[in-house]
Amino acid sequence: MPHPILQETVTRFDPPKHHYALLYASGGELIAHQNGNFVLTDDADDSVIWDLSGDTLTHVLGNTEMRVSNDRVNVTIDNQKVAGRLAHGPELLPSEYLNHIREHGWCCMTSILDPDLLEAMEKVGCTDRYAKREMDRGQSMLLQSPAIAQTAAEPVSLWVTRRYLGLDDVCIGHPPGLAIVDKDDGKRPVLAWHSDYPYHWGVPARGKVPPGTGATCLGLQRNVCISPFTKEDGATAFKLGSHRLDQPPPEEWGTAMQHSRPGYREEHGLPYGGPDADIVEAPGGSIILYDSRTWHRTGVNQSGKRRSAMLQAMIPMYILPKNDTTRAWKQMAESDVYNELTDREKREFERLMVHRFIGPGGRFAITGDSDLGRDSELS
Ligand SMILES: [Fe+2]
Repeated sequence: MPHPILQETVTRFDPPKHHYALLYASGGELIAHQNGNFVLTDDADDSVIWDLSGDTLTHVLGNTEMRVSNDRVNVTIDNQKVAGRLAHGPELLPSEYLNHIREHGWCCMTSILDPDLLEAMEKVGCTDRYAKREMDRGQSMLLQSPAIAQTAAEPVSLWVTRRYLGLDDVCIGHPPGLAIVDKDDGKRPVLAWHSDYPYHWGVPARGKVPPGTGATCLGLQRNVCISPFTKEDGATAFKLGSHRLDQPPPEEWGTAMQHSRPGYREEHGLPYGGPDADIVEAPGGSIILYDSRTWHRTGVNQSGKRRSAMLQAMIPMYILPKNDTTRAWKQMAESDVYNELTDREKREFERLMVHRFIGPGGRFAITGDSDLGRDSELS
């Protein structure tokens, strides 16, 4: 059967002309300005956002101004001098992204990743500027470069995720890695319409969430675009706003369950790709957050340029992770690349990867690792 022409409606985000700035202290903590005082924090709400004009740094919520010299400023926190390093920040305020996802069920944080970090992600995945590089398949990407954990610890998307899910205790449901979509060969099965973990609607999986979960959201998907996301290069297709329906995608669109059957594509063609579906086009380094109930499917790469992304199922801690992330965290914590993380990145990565619950005698990591499972507290 011939391929239908993919006719999704495109919502396009161009590279921003202006970015706000963040200020990092030596441990990677963010320097915020709250109630007239400088403070160190891991929470990237609007109080950590600065605007640079020439060599003047202005806080977005007040009239605080500072002179910047060589991308550095000095502030006083609790009577101590603290050096702040200026860094790439978001295009919009964290609260603007939060308002957007609360209203629409998704938001695009355009080009939010630091450009050097984006390049490191291209390098580890051997795509884009590093497309000719040979991939190291001998060990986990997490151990090859600190970039994977640094990207997972991106502070603004974490803050929005925590506020949207309604609690600070948010985890990643699986060890993070890269999802690379190669050119479509016209035959291979595609990951057709579904909702993400833990809902797993449309997916051939057991233990799905029953439809109709209402106001409590059980998962938020965080897709970091490493390659530019375009229709031709295989950007994810969505039905934006479908989280509100709180039910699985329709079978007539072609679900992941249907398309997982041998020979299904040959007989029925590609899943739905008409104008009622949406493509969010965004530059590399953008993060697309969406309510995990949102119907979506993998894009069909027609260009042949390998499309790289880091997809993370973000879950509240009361949801069981898809697999044991704690072992991957422990391997990473014992590796050389761990030492390249800042203290804040180490803290965030551990919070995301090690699932601890209160039990008799302390908090225990849920893991098959006997060392970690026994410990009441880790580092
Ligand atoms: Fe998905």
